Amino acid sequence: MRISVIGCGYLGAVHAAAMVSLGHTVIGVDVDEARVQSLAHGLVPFYEPGLPELLTEGLATGRLSFSTVMDDVKRARLHFLAIGTPQTESGAADLGFLFTAVAQLVPLLSPGDLVVGKSTVPVGVAARIAEVVESAGARLAWNPEFLREGRAVVDTLSPDRMVYGVREGDNEAVALLDRVYEQILESGTPRMVTDFATAELVKVAANAFLATKISFINAMAEVAEASGANIDQLADALGQDPRIGRKFLNSGLGFGGGCLPKDIRGFVSRGEELGVDLGFLREVESINLRRRQRVIDLAVDELGGSVVGKRITILGLAFKPNSDDVRDSPALDVARRLVELGAVVHATDPQALETARRSTPGLDYHADVPDALRGAELVLVLTEWEAFTGLDPELAASLVMNRTVIDGRNCLDSVAWQRAGWRVLALGHAVPAKLSPQAVR
Ligand code: UDX
Repeated sequence: MRISVIGCGYLGAVHAAAMVSLGHTVIGVDVDEARVQSLAHGLVPFYEPGLPELLTEGLATGRLSFSTVMDDVKRARLHFLAIGTPQTESGAADLGFLFTAVAQLVPLLSPGDLVVGKSTVPVGVAARIAEVVESAGARLAWNPEFLREGRAVVDTLSPDRMVYGVREGDNEAVALLDRVYEQILESGTPRMVTDFATAELVKVAANAFLATKISFINAMAEVAEASGANIDQLADALGQDPRIGRKFLNSGLGFGGGCLPKDIRGFVSRGEELGVDLGFLREVESINLRRRQRVIDLAVDELGGSVVGKRITILGLAFKPNSDDVRDSPALDVARRLVELGAVVHATDPQALETARRSTPGLDYHADVPDALRGAELVLVLTEWEAFTGLDPELAASLVMNRTVIDGRNCLDSVAWQRAGWRVLALGHAVPAKLSPQAVR
């Protein structure tokens, strides 16, 4: 099938390459010349495991191309909308880019074309887009994307489910999407056909649920810190109940990234417009932010009441491992706030150094973990990359000035670190009593 993917950011770039791997011919269109050039040369402008290979393979077939010219979508019969919907100051989604793209696309549509929305939008937007698209004799489907950064290729090609939002009775739209995703559906992926509003909602509701689950366990972490309970065992025991499940019950510094924080704010805002009070999601966010403050409070306490002039090393800046994304990153937020408090912050991350450097001057960035650790008076582990969870605590101990580590992701083997002489403060665990230097030896 001839397909266009409009918007070649994270979602669009992955989707375009994935559609070629399913046997389709794809043109990706984006207004960003540099991005288009880069993708056309097989270079992915962000870190996503597996995507460079998929892109290179796609380009080699001759069935994948990129362009900045919207007119180039004319030969395609199916058009995916993968345009970003960033957050406005009020927390609502900014739909400007999406509506501009739709306005440019509509005159190029041929009767019978299918436009497929993949962007995350507030409920009600698809119906508005459908009207414009249908005025050109084309049809609309809403097909939300649930991919996770770091697993985007796998999530796109082997999703947990497919959701098609279509006009009631639009069997042709369903049949077209079934053709596009034939290989995925053949492998047994559940597929649900619904209306536009439900399809839009599945996406934001899923993200709101995931955020709530994380904040729930982080609220329990606060209780565990105060009561001496063990948060990891609590999560494991809760997770044994299949109605609850263990996934997304990892306590720590909380959620960040380009989706969860933005989507819950946007959902609250859309709820207000609809007269529905989704205020509990504000609480979800405030629990999330409290975890960052907790790390800062622990750091200040450990350093004797002030971080001014103290050398703090931060391991991990990305919002999660296997990503170079620092959008709304809890780790980078903590780093920034420690700098504001007067600390001398040294930081390292396996992939996010450049993205962090661009957005946050004022930190001392190191590509090398030992360089970052040298002379530290306090170490914070804020993203659970394997490079840090697998770090030799003896080696780390030989580099720092003071063996105290705050484990912001509950990811270190605290017994091994303690054996190497470290004082380990893990979120969700009571703060251990300070031992005298003699006792430590
Ligand atoms: C999320 C959704 O998972 C995905 O379905 C949607 O399409 C986009 O938003 P993503 O933002 O890539 O994906 O990351 P995700 O893996 O969901 O993690 C989000 C944040 O939650 C990260 O900061 C992560 O560190 C944090 N997290 C996740 C926890 O703190 N605890 C957990 O148990 C799981």
